[in-house]
Amino acid sequence: MFDITVISGDGIGKEVMGAALHVLDHLNIDFNYNFTNAGNECFKKTGTTIPDKTINEAREGDATLFGAVTTVPGQKSAIITLRKELDLFANIRPVKSYPGVKSLYDDLDFVIIRENTEGLYSGIEEATEERATALRVITREASERICKFAFQYAKKTDRGKVTVIHKANVLKKTDGLFRNIFYKIAADFSDIRTEDRYVDAAAMLFITKPQIFDVVVTTNLFGDILSDEGAGLVGGLGLTPSANIGENYGLFEPVHGSAPDMAGKNIANPSAMILSAVMMLNYLKEYETARNVENALIQVLIEGKTVTPDLGGSASTIEMAKEVINKLEGKL
Ligand code: NAI
Ligand code: MG
Repeated sequence: MFDITVISGDGIGKEVMGAALHVLDHLNIDFNYNFTNAGNECFKKTGTTIPDKTINEAREGDATLFGAVTTVPGQKSAIITLRKELDLFANIRPVKSYPGVKSLYDDLDFVIIRENTEGLYSGIEEATEERATALRVITREASERICKFAFQYAKKTDRGKVTVIHKANVLKKTDGLFRNIFYKIAADFSDIRTEDRYVDAAAMLFITKPQIFDVVVTTNLFGDILSDEGAGLVGGLGLTPSANIGENYGLFEPVHGSAPDMAGKNIANPSAMILSAVMMLNYLKEYETARNVENALIQVLIEGKTVTPDLGGSASTIEMAKEVINKLEGKL
């Protein structure tokens, strides 16, 4: 029995969450859902986008599923607050080609692990009329834990190589520290190969030779940019899941937002949310079930009959999820 905190959010967040929970309900695992609120509708009801109650409930569960929220300029970001409050220091974004999905490459399977708490997004900025600066904070502690996390992740998932992406030739002190710590941690994982690449060269290699990557670890801003580049290499937003992991908590969310343009129409692709739930199942060590759900989704994608409009089909969000369940249950 797992206690799952469910934050559906706004717009298509609610629709894709409904689809993913429908799939989870058909597994041989007991989930106890605790539905709680964040986002713009929550703001309208409670005056805050992310009530303390929601944060506490996320702390109490075994894992949190997050749909998507509409962020209104000037409002506090629910997801950034959750990442901070739960100290979810690692952002994991798989770059994986799925059959039946139009993408630039059909043979990619690598993972980007982004440091989620500091770097250029530390939020320390100053401005005068003439000059504005942002402080790029790289600490030993945060660098050690993200590099260690990357090697442990590689080990656990049978991946043979970890690449650190940096710009230590220019950012000598900050990225020099990050790269040195990477190699210090690497010494404890002698069976995993290592590589380091400059971020500009890596950005090009993502386009020209992405097959060379296996696990990538990088600082906050570089990871933000490269992970969207990665999503662009394979199916795009409807297919891209993510995980935010800390020492004690895991939060799983599709990369896409609330897509107001398609909200309420029940046509959003549920794959990114279902694959986020697959990442959650792996986090909960339900490895076999995770593999089964992913394979069932792959069958639906290959068949291409019961898929949403963005994939060239005419199925609704929930119909596509139900087809995943049919495949899981071997009905078709
Ligand atoms: P978005 O990701 O919501 O949508 C961009 C476009 O991608 C949509 O117009 C739609 O055509 C397509 N798309 C997204 N998800 C899809 C799916 N599951 N199936 C099929 N097509 C899909 O980004 P946008 O429009 O920039 O932002 C909308 C709202 O979402 C904003 O308020 C934004 O702040 C918020 N947002 C929230 C995020 C979160 O909750 N983590 C992340 C990104 C944006
Ligand atoms: Mg981003």
